[in-house]
Amino acid sequence: MKTRTLLQIQASIFSDGGESSRLASRFVSRWKADQPGAEVIVRDLGREPVPHLTAERFQSFLAKPDERTPAQRGVSDYSDNLIAELERADVIVLGLPMYNFGVPSTLKAYFDHIARAGRTFKYTEKGPVGLLTGKKAFVFATRGGLYAGTPLDTQTSYVRDFLRFLGISDVEFVYAEGLALGDAPKSAALAKAANDAHALASRPAPEIAIAA
Ligand SMILES: Cc1cc2nc3c(=O)[nH]c(=O)nc-3n(C[C@H](O)[C@H](O)[C@H](O)COP(=O)(O)O)c2cc1C
Repeated sequence: MKTRTLLQIQASIFSDGGESSRLASRFVSRWKADQPGAEVIVRDLGREPVPHLTAERFQSFLAKPDERTPAQRGVSDYSDNLIAELERADVIVLGLPMYNFGVPSTLKAYFDHIARAGRTFKYTEKGPVGLLTGKKAFVFATRGGLYAGTPLDTQTSYVRDFLRFLGISDVEFVYAEGLALGDAPKSAALAKAANDAHALASRPAPEIAIAA
């Protein structure tokens, strides 16, 4: 069996202690149990936040490689490194908290550093085409309130559309909602989400097999 690589992206400001990180980690632990020798890469955006994209940083992406200044090379190498982790991954796991009605700002900054024309997507006559194909993503979304399936869920379609833009169209979401509604609803929501995560990770390999 091919050794697989899983990239776990944690977007919680609480790092490993975030509910989204813990839920995602439950999935990863279960997934690893069936994947002998699997490689797990953790990209912790809480511990190491990606800087906001600025005009200078964006210019580093646009500059021709042999014309980059040392500072621009530093920025493009940083972005290249984030992209290399994604390219290496067969499976992507994202811990996704809701903060102030949106995705964590550092996740947006991360997205801004991995969306690179010619690297992760390209423009064609028929529109943009994602270049990170053959991957599967699992998103573990945690919220204080209840939003899934309503217009107030600003995250699901945004994350789904963004990943699809990069070529990652096989994406499944698990939600733990109502975490601010009291101890009992919180425990029930986390228990249900943990069960869902466990069930997803326990699926027989062919169901999450990656197209070559
Ligand atoms: C700064 C901040 C802003 C938040 N904003 C919202 C919000 O807009 N809607 C919501 O339902 N919950 C909100 N919450 C609650 C979080 O979504 C909830 O605590 C979730 O568990 C966060 O995930 P994490 O523990 O992985 O960081 C917020 C929490 C924090 C810390």
